Amino acid sequence: MSGSETEKEAHTTATEEAKPEVAINMIPVFVMGKRYDVPEGLTIMKAMEYAGYKFIRGAGCRGGVCGACATVYRKAGDYKIYAGLACQTVIEPNMYLTQIPFYPANRAEYRFEELKPEPEEIFKLYPEVFRCLACNACTKVCPMDVEVMDAIAAIKKGDIAKAAELTFSCIQCGLCASRCLGELPQYHIFQLARRIYGAKIAPQAEHLKQAAQAVEEGKYEKVLQELMGMGIEDLKILYQEREIEPEMAGEDWEPADKRHL
Ligand code: FES
Repeated sequence: MSGSETEKEAHTTATEEAKPEVAINMIPVFVMGKRYDVPEGLTIMKAMEYAGYKFIRGAGCRGGVCGACATVYRKAGDYKIYAGLACQTVIEPNMYLTQIPFYPANRAEYRFEELKPEPEEIFKLYPEVFRCLACNACTKVCPMDVEVMDAIAAIKKGDIAKAAELTFSCIQCGLCASRCLGELPQYHIFQLARRIYGAKIAPQAEHLKQAAQAVEEGKYEKVLQELMGMGIEDLKILYQEREIEPEMAGEDWEPADKRHL
């Protein structure tokens, strides 16, 4: 073997040592009934994309907070229908997958400013709240562990504050409505309850009141006009160089640049 061949071999060996090959284990899943072999460890969303499906709807944040990717699936040898978020649920061998891009559920129309902070407003807009059979299927299916049935019970009792508190983590995926025997659109009802509570029942935070007043009085008008007059590249630089509040900032944290406070 020549010197250069030895060097080449040594180089190849070093490179191989530096980058050990990772064996990818492929597992079978069934997307809408058709088998695909996909890498183990993917989420349902990534597995479907690996199989060639493209999410135009039914995907948003990919981080488990927007509720766009509600899905149902079955596991091999199990009669049960499971539900979850496609962006968070990790696949298992022989899962049967599909995707629910949208679940039709009644959504009341209202002029929010005309609503009174009273439970009767919710009853009028969503009379089906009294069709709840207390079966608890909604709670079992919720990927955010919201006590859905208890929150509906709170609304029936007229306790809007409790319903708002219980459903704070609701991400509006709609899975509760998909399993409801009484055909309630729980997630829309909760959204209305939270709106009424936040805007008309909960005491207004003083600092928020002051901030809203400052906006109304045009305090930020000048800086907004400046931003709107900037080119895209300058805006990018401004964004990249912005001061970010530290993760562990205390209540009294303030930015170094206080010109716009
Ligand atoms: S894509 Fe937003 S929760 Fe899954």
